Amino acid sequence: MLFHKSAQSMVALLGLMVALASAHAADPKLANVTILATGGTIAGTGATSTTTVGYTAATVGVQTLIQAVPEMTKIANVSGEQVFQIASENMSNEHWLALAKRVNTLLAQKDVHGIVITHGTDTLEETAYFLNLVVKSKKPVVLVGSMRPSTAISADGPANLYNAVALAASPDAVGRGVLVSMSDQIHAGRDVSKSNTTMVDTFRTPELGMLGYFQGGKPFFYRQVARKHTTETEFDISSLNALPQVDVAYAYANVGPTAIDAFVAAGVKGLVHAGVGNGSLPAKVRPALSAARAKGVVVVRASRVGQGILARNGEANDDELDFVVADTLSPQKARILLMLALTKTNNTKEIQRMFYTY
Ligand code: DGL
Repeated sequence: MLFHKSAQSMVALLGLMVALASAHAADPKLANVTILATGGTIAGTGATSTTTVGYTAATVGVQTLIQAVPEMTKIANVSGEQVFQIASENMSNEHWLALAKRVNTLLAQKDVHGIVITHGTDTLEETAYFLNLVVKSKKPVVLVGSMRPSTAISADGPANLYNAVALAASPDAVGRGVLVSMSDQIHAGRDVSKSNTTMVDTFRTPELGMLGYFQGGKPFFYRQVARKHTTETEFDISSLNALPQVDVAYAYANVGPTAIDAFVAAGVKGLVHAGVGNGSLPAKVRPALSAARAKGVVVVRASRVGQGILARNGEANDDELDFVVADTLSPQKARILLMLALTKTNNTKEIQRMFYTY
């Protein structure tokens, strides 16, 4: 009798497994997209439906995010992995290396056609640029977040996620570098930045321009990126477990050398100076940066302004000071490229070439 009973339960279990498998059977006509969830507001929850600030980020799991947008199953075979569950102000070099390695492992698989990364918006632009330099595939990698938590009236997360999956599944997105998809816009990971503390259309590429739009859940491209990325870069993080320490010193009226001296004393390998205007060096700062360079720290002149080319030998004699200039990269993105550059070389001429290449 006991055997009969256990046979019955085995049959029932097998039946359930077959049913589950068929329920999730991939549609061979659709692309396979993996969602890597890292946390952020898109996974956030608020006390009430009108809570759009003061909510808790990184509380909702990836399966719940997927189940909240069942329409996605019509445009892609979607699977999910919870790689982290953090607010993105806490993103670290170690998180980036682990994420990049997981992305490269997945994209090397023939049955993965694209990846969506759900992410907090505070450092989303930085993760996007880091991945733009180290992902070794032409397959689409799309970063997406939201500005309202999942519990809010008109939460923007579900529509953003739907669009991101549509983009990751789109052949048009292949070979365009890492993309950021928010608020019906498509941006390049290199040039996009968060421009407003709370508005849903906060991600902008002010002068160089977004790459395209979404309409009816479909991506439409109007521009290509000009700089090298992904499979075209010289950076390989596969054997790295850490990145060289690089920090950013911010300039403003009356600034002194304290921050720079402290970073150098802490042993940074590189220092990005977020200068005023076209990267101007205040009189009290210039000697501190020169002293840093003399100790072997690689110095990059960037600007706090936000747009425009940082002219070499413009506001400072970079040839004489042996500094590098950040071209159009923001200070926070110049830090990322300088970290990766320092995994290859300390030669400032080589590093300057990289800043004009990526
Ligand atoms: N704590 C911020 C973050 O995780 C919330 C902002 C957001 O995700 O939109 O980036």
